[in-house]
Amino acid sequence: MTAPAQLDRNPVAPDAFAALTAQPADALLGLIALYRADPRADKIDLGVGVFRDDEGATPVMRSVKAAEAVLLREQTTKAYLGAEGDAAYTDLLAAIVFGEKLAGSGRITGVQTPGGTGALRLGAELLARARPAATVWIGTPTWPNHGPIFTEAGLPVRSHRFYDVPTAMLDFEAMLEDLQQAAPGDILLLHGCCHNPSGVALSQEHWAAIVDLCERKGLLPFVDLAYQGLGDGLEEDAAATRTLISALPSAMVAYSCDKNFGLYRERVGALWVQAHAPSTAAIVRGNMLSLARSLWSMPPDHGAAIVRTILEHDDLRADWSAELTDMRLRINALRQAVASTHVGLDFIARQRGMFAMLPISSDAVAAMREGNGIYMAGNGRINIAGLTLQNISTFVAGLAPHL
Ligand code: LMR
Repeated sequence: MTAPAQLDRNPVAPDAFAALTAQPADALLGLIALYRADPRADKIDLGVGVFRDDEGATPVMRSVKAAEAVLLREQTTKAYLGAEGDAAYTDLLAAIVFGEKLAGSGRITGVQTPGGTGALRLGAELLARARPAATVWIGTPTWPNHGPIFTEAGLPVRSHRFYDVPTAMLDFEAMLEDLQQAAPGDILLLHGCCHNPSGVALSQEHWAAIVDLCERKGLLPFVDLAYQGLGDGLEEDAAATRTLISALPSAMVAYSCDKNFGLYRERVGALWVQAHAPSTAAIVRGNMLSLARSLWSMPPDHGAAIVRTILEHDDLRADWSAELTDMRLRINALRQAVASTHVGLDFIARQRGMFAMLPISSDAVAAMREGNGIYMAGNGRINIAGLTLQNISTFVAGLAPHL
């Protein structure tokens, strides 16, 4: 009878997790397994956001393979780098994101993070320390992980209208109207380019109005830039971020190399913060490092080392840029092709990036999955790169009854 006696001595232990409730599996990531289990030969994967080529594959990029060969040959140690990760990676990338001049202002400080999610979470933890009472405003619809990242860091989150799915239109007036309720010091989460899930693009005038709003209301912009180069080009896709950084004293940028370097599972990202003065930037940096230390101690190295190696070698950099151009051209050609098949899809040609939202119900999404083997996110988001010139007609045939 030793076992019950032990239990008696620690009556709490068996129920240690009683306060937890069952959690639903992540719906977006769940699509990966659902698709894999579907035996149909003509199934179409428009679910999770990874680039695909004409064969539906997500190959390792040439420049990445070449950089890995360089690393294999030349890397001499895997000793720890520190909480900031690979500083040369962050510096080289900063020039691509902000341009040389802004990147060298002394007011922008950055650290490597595990993916764009790590960057957003580190930024959320920093905000929870810096301004715990501030509300984070997030437009709807958005990437489903945005809300939880800030909520889990303890920050209040509120939604504002942004994109109207049935009309496939940006609802900018409604956004400005909702944000009238924002308080000075609140945070405004923005997609720097290639909006996920809608693909809707903001004009220069819209960005100027957002700068004006941030100035008038004292809002802090937090830009999520996860698709640079996959919309209109590396420079073009950074323009909005640069507009905000140039015009406003403080801003934050969460960056992901997952898509534009095809490094998804390597988890390669960065968080930059612009402070109003270099002395404040140094304090911000110290806080980012101490938070990173307690979150993940140090970010994983391999993916960032690949990006650094590509950016350090002119030939690899040129090849990466050419590959990225091909990826963008493929996505934009598919946008044109799918838009031309049905009058109800013409909006897709006007939008940018990997995603578009179909104006269909969740029942229609399920019917297309079950009946036609066409997989997409539950809100009707499709990954444009999952289409091919061969499967577009099957896709449109499956979709047409629901439009
Ligand atoms: C997506 O939106 O499909 C990607 O960003 C993958 C993810 O992490 O959700």
